[in-house]
Amino acid sequence: MCIRDSIYKVDDKNGRLYQSYLGQKLSFDSDIVQLPLGNEAYLTHGMEDYFEPAIRVLHNDGNPSLLLKYISHENKQLQPGVDETVILLKDDKYPVEVKLHFIAYPKENIIKEYAEISHQEKKPVTLYNYASSLLHLNGSKYFLTEFAGDWAHEVNMKETELAFGKKMLDTKLGSRANMFCSPFFLLALDRKAEENAGDVLFGTIGWTGNYRFTFEVDNENGLRVLSGINPYASEYSLKPNEVFRTPEFIFTYSTEGKGKASRDFQRWARKYQLKDGEKSRMTLLNNWEATYFDFNEDKLVNIMDEAVALGVDMFLLDDGWFANKYPRSSDHQGLGDWEETVTKLPNGIGKLVKEATDRGIKFGLWIEPEMVNPKSELYEKHKDWVIHLPNRDEYYFRNQMVLDLTNPKVQDYVYGVVDNLMTKYPGIAYFKWDCNSPITNIYSPYLKDQQSHLYIEYVRGLYNVLERIKQKYPNLPMMLCSGGGGRCDYEALKYFTEFWPSDNTDAVERIFIQWGYSYFFPAKSMAAHVTSWGKQPVKFRTDVASMCKLGFDIRIHEMSQTDQQYCKEAVANFKRLDDVILDGDQYRLQSPYESQHAAVMYANDNADKAVLFAFDIHPRYAESIQPLRLQGLKEDARYELKEINLVPGTQSRLACNGKTFSGEFLMNVGIPVFSSRPTNSHVIEITEVK
Ligand code: GLA
Repeated sequence: MCIRDSIYKVDDKNGRLYQSYLGQKLSFDSDIVQLPLGNEAYLTHGMEDYFEPAIRVLHNDGNPSLLLKYISHENKQLQPGVDETVILLKDDKYPVEVKLHFIAYPKENIIKEYAEISHQEKKPVTLYNYASSLLHLNGSKYFLTEFAGDWAHEVNMKETELAFGKKMLDTKLGSRANMFCSPFFLLALDRKAEENAGDVLFGTIGWTGNYRFTFEVDNENGLRVLSGINPYASEYSLKPNEVFRTPEFIFTYSTEGKGKASRDFQRWARKYQLKDGEKSRMTLLNNWEATYFDFNEDKLVNIMDEAVALGVDMFLLDDGWFANKYPRSSDHQGLGDWEETVTKLPNGIGKLVKEATDRGIKFGLWIEPEMVNPKSELYEKHKDWVIHLPNRDEYYFRNQMVLDLTNPKVQDYVYGVVDNLMTKYPGIAYFKWDCNSPITNIYSPYLKDQQSHLYIEYVRGLYNVLERIKQKYPNLPMMLCSGGGGRCDYEALKYFTEFWPSDNTDAVERIFIQWGYSYFFPAKSMAAHVTSWGKQPVKFRTDVASMCKLGFDIRIHEMSQTDQQYCKEAVANFKRLDDVILDGDQYRLQSPYESQHAAVMYANDNADKAVLFAFDIHPRYAESIQPLRLQGLKEDARYELKEINLVPGTQSRLACNGKTFSGEFLMNVGIPVFSSRPTNSHVIEITEVK
């Protein structure tokens, strides 16, 4: 069986399934037959293998082993451009079966893999391990890049060589699952990953909860990569005929380095996975960093006026608008009571929606519906809806606790937060859905004696809610936020148009954060706001945010007239070019990890329009500065270069501004765009002259 760049074979003698190959797609059957059998595809526990298995089960009779034999496979087209292969495996002694699903997107070079596990034993079978995918790789060396950190410090890229034994990337945080480590990795074979050359595997898991990637190098220097739900504290009791469906592991294998793999992921996401991936996005002004909890109706309406003057599409009201018995005047209280604070907003959200609509902009609203402050009416009324240990002191993360989404009543309630607001105020055009706490005090009052299902059922409960919202409000855009980048997986992004990469909006930090996420996510999925966290020039901050989905979260009236005018022009430029920036192919040209500069460019499908962003961060004294070579253009086309986003009253300092060059020149000789000025930036519009 050939599934894009992987090949599976069945051993004639033992009837078991093997992964024979993973790499550059092979075209000739005459070659494929000569490939060695390889390694068993979905390894089980209890037989002759000595390393980490994909699946481990305990049967009714106490037997802990499984042996899977190939039964059949089928191929079908799911939709034009999307093919599925399903391989059925069965144990010949126990009625247990595993279906391996591979969904291939040949044009984008992406494969999704997941497993369905079921059985017909008399009583439940216990699942201890249940990977979505097991991939075998064979290289002389393996270099793993992980994307880890913490709140306000997300996706720090670190590349290390794997040696014998296991390395795991996992999370046990439950709800705010990715706070320390994002659910994706890249793995280079033979040599360190390069942007435009070399073999590299990119993988990510579509699961908004505990995940685990295991990388194990064996005694023969083979590498197995196991991906799936983190089985930690999650033994699953599988009833007869129930189908346990693992989340999807999504991967690509590039022989042309990281840049190609990222562009494949970004294109695939826009076309197939991200909610409204091919639709436009709204620019916005958010009030969070401008006011925090300290606002009233007048203040908000003034900010709406600023949004109009700035030219953005929407005003987004953040945290602090709700609860009455315990008004949400700080993060210590009120979560769970989703009614407007009458002392703050006497005329309610309806009035704010109207004020926005009257000004020709949209209105968006922050919610955090999965959470509760102990100081809230919800907690007082429904303690049984809160995940907590019945006989212990409660532990709070950001003064709050997590609702028990395993309980269908709680699912109704969480769904109701959105549904009630939308029913009452149909003019709400957007939600920012936050999730600031990991699951603490880990015990579900609803699950009673099945506590080991909590982490899994929580995520399933969340998906039920999100699915209902999507069904009823298919055109409602939503931002996925989790105290910054605590959630950003591709299953959640079926329901969210964008995510909030980090609470850290310092522009220098954001260059690194956006760089890290760009390995897997398209620009349009990342909300990037201009704020006053960093103290760089407003131009620098705005240019950084303009590389993704542009927004503002800043006291506009405290900015100078020149800065305000600059921002207005930058918003207009962004809107004029957002089809290139948000929908184009991205090229990472100069890494901030490797120099004191950074550059990223976007080119549209025809390569007749491109936008280049170039930054000097903290250049060294007298460092040698080289021209920047562009990518993604047509060699024989001629392009005019124009510097945009200039501060009013200033002229471009770039020698290339206003000049015309061939694509060949731009990509081979390059243009000088870097300087020795710290926190300096340039945005260049590149247009084919026809
Ligand atoms: C989280 C979010 C912020 C903001 C606050 C509000 O930290 O990441 O953007 O919405 O909550 O409390």
